[in-house]
Amino acid sequence: MKNLGILLSGRGSNFEAIARNVAAGKIPAKIAVVVSNREEAPGLARAREMGLTARFIPSKGKEREAYDRDVVAALEEAQVDLVCLAGFMRILSPYFIRAFPRRILNIHPALLPAFPGLDAQKQALEYGAKFSGCTVHIVDEGVDTGPIVCQAVVPVLDDDTAETLAARILKEEHRIYSQAICLMLEDKVRIEGRRALITPWKYGQTP
Ligand code: GAR
Repeated sequence: MKNLGILLSGRGSNFEAIARNVAAGKIPAKIAVVVSNREEAPGLARAREMGLTARFIPSKGKEREAYDRDVVAALEEAQVDLVCLAGFMRILSPYFIRAFPRRILNIHPALLPAFPGLDAQKQALEYGAKFSGCTVHIVDEGVDTGPIVCQAVVPVLDDDTAETLAARILKEEHRIYSQAICLMLEDKVRIEGRRALITPWKYGQTP
């Protein structure tokens, strides 16, 4: 059984969706550790309620790499195979990325490479995009730049606010993050240059 490490900074709804699919046996892995850089993150409290190993690792006053060394140590201690960033609002240092080469996933609430960075849903709305969505990608040393594993598209409606659009996107996030995790765990993702090529699977094999 492979081990997942989940990193979050806030609400943790993506973490919860992953945890539900793990509990239902739809993701063939165990959540070995949940780490937050914010003590008050609701996702951290939720992880504790679920009886998972949940660690607050404070980032205040620490340089990026020093902080990442602490997080990497916690992930290694938990023997994590795949790291999932789930609303973890920090940029990872090259040290972190080299510790888990091609073994870190991130979810971003836009169709990358459109609207990277913060407030992606607001960016899409203000730009006037007619469609947006979400992207699960492998983390490399750039910001929101690594090979794309899964994407889902949603329409942007005329009466959308950033909040209503974010809610529509979030539903898809919860669906495709688990899919991408399964593909990675089952070694179905092959990287060729920028492209993450997926070995076809039988319908119904993944959530
Ligand atoms: C999600 O919408 C995720 O895509 C986004 O933060 C939210 C976290 O929600 N991540 C980013 O914007 C990363 N650049 P959650 O805590 O409920 O999973």
